[in-house]
Amino acid sequence: MKLWQGRFEGSSNELANIFNSSLSFDTRLATYDIKGSIAHVKMLKKQGIIDASDANEALNALSELLAEINDGSYAIEGDYEDIHMAVEEILTQRIGDAAKRIHTARSRNDQVALDMKLFAKEAIYELTGSLEALIAAFRSKAYSHLDDLMPGYTHMQKAQPITLAHHLSSYIEMLLRDRSRLQDCLQRMDTMPLGSGALAASTFDIDRHFLADELGFREPSANSLDSVSDRDYLLELLFCLSALMMHLSRFSEELIIWSSEEYAYVSISDAFSTGSSMMPQKKNPDILELIRGKAGRVYGSLITLLTVMKGLPLAYNKDMQEDKQTVFDAIDTALACMQILAVLLEECTFNTAKMLKSVQESFCSATDLAEYLVKKGCPFRDAHFIVGSLVKKCIAENKWLSELSLTELKEQSRLFEQDAYQSLDPKTSVYTKSAYGSPNPDIVRQYLDNIMLYQADSNKN
Ligand code: ARG
Repeated sequence: MKLWQGRFEGSSNELANIFNSSLSFDTRLATYDIKGSIAHVKMLKKQGIIDASDANEALNALSELLAEINDGSYAIEGDYEDIHMAVEEILTQRIGDAAKRIHTARSRNDQVALDMKLFAKEAIYELTGSLEALIAAFRSKAYSHLDDLMPGYTHMQKAQPITLAHHLSSYIEMLLRDRSRLQDCLQRMDTMPLGSGALAASTFDIDRHFLADELGFREPSANSLDSVSDRDYLLELLFCLSALMMHLSRFSEELIIWSSEEYAYVSISDAFSTGSSMMPQKKNPDILELIRGKAGRVYGSLITLLTVMKGLPLAYNKDMQEDKQTVFDAIDTALACMQILAVLLEECTFNTAKMLKSVQESFCSATDLAEYLVKKGCPFRDAHFIVGSLVKKCIAENKWLSELSLTELKEQSRLFEQDAYQSLDPKTSVYTKSAYGSPNPDIVRQYLDNIMLYQADSNKN
């Protein structure tokens, strides 16, 4: 018999039961659901809404069930409609009437909102840990390549000299923004929905501030109607994960290109590569391609939930049950990608000699040469034209700028002197840059020194 059987005639259709049930995926919320019930029953007891002996009996049974689930000795299974019904029915089987009182002044609508928030808050903690471990992997790689020069690119064309550390540090910046976005989203989701009831709270004198304290929230949510129909916190989390996956995907894409024979800037460890079933020579960067592909899957979760929510009138509608699998999947996917990328990065080997050659045999120092002329008094626009003409001459004569004689330089501008050649050295280029945020290895080192990793650092202690 259904817990809501009272107003119904006969039994429900078996296909409808199966279609309606969320138990196959929301058992993942079991511990949060039970913790929510424990807080709720404590509150009902404190407020004198249910008597102390019933409350104590229910609290003992809830704690027991929680312990059994945590130690794996009990798994919730059966043809329950969802995890909330399952917990109440299991409790009723175990202790009878006392269990039938725990749903006083509560609905599955505020319960599920609470469970998902408790779940999301814990997920953010876990995601932050993995994110910080990944940042730590980028940082340690960057420390090993502070002085390793490479071409920086725009439009996939060689542009200016940078260092590999500067390049890797740019991903640290992205990941630090991802961390701060997650924290930001955590702040906003920190309102406690329980006590909103189905949509309009309850006639009982419930204490929602007590519930908020018990369940570790900053405060109770301020509008019962919004509270049961709000999934913004999941949408924000999915956006955070989408942005994060976009960053992982861009880095994966770069490593994929760099591991090609044409670039040969990096060698991915054999342990993280795969072969071809037909072509014996192949070593493929499948793991990186999968990360790039999974970014699409996480974006899909965001679009799924946005679309589920877009036409829903207030307050709760069953459509919202569709939030779970897609949110779980996005979190699991992002965690798995961060974890594998951190190890893959640690184990890959950058071909710094190839990168150096690539920046030396390029026109990457053309801007430095133009700035050299500007420092000697030439207007920048004129300097740009002069160096552009020199590049054109080099291309025609199959030379690099450093191979032009001083006489040839002077043909374009009498301001050129012997010291012009120093500005063509990529190492001089990066070390001359003194602005905050520039690729100067001293500045990049300071940047890396100053990164604060909260969870990753506390794990070390
Ligand atoms: N399984 C439901 C969900 O995931 C729980 C809330 C059900 N509420 C209701 N009135 N049917 O959204």
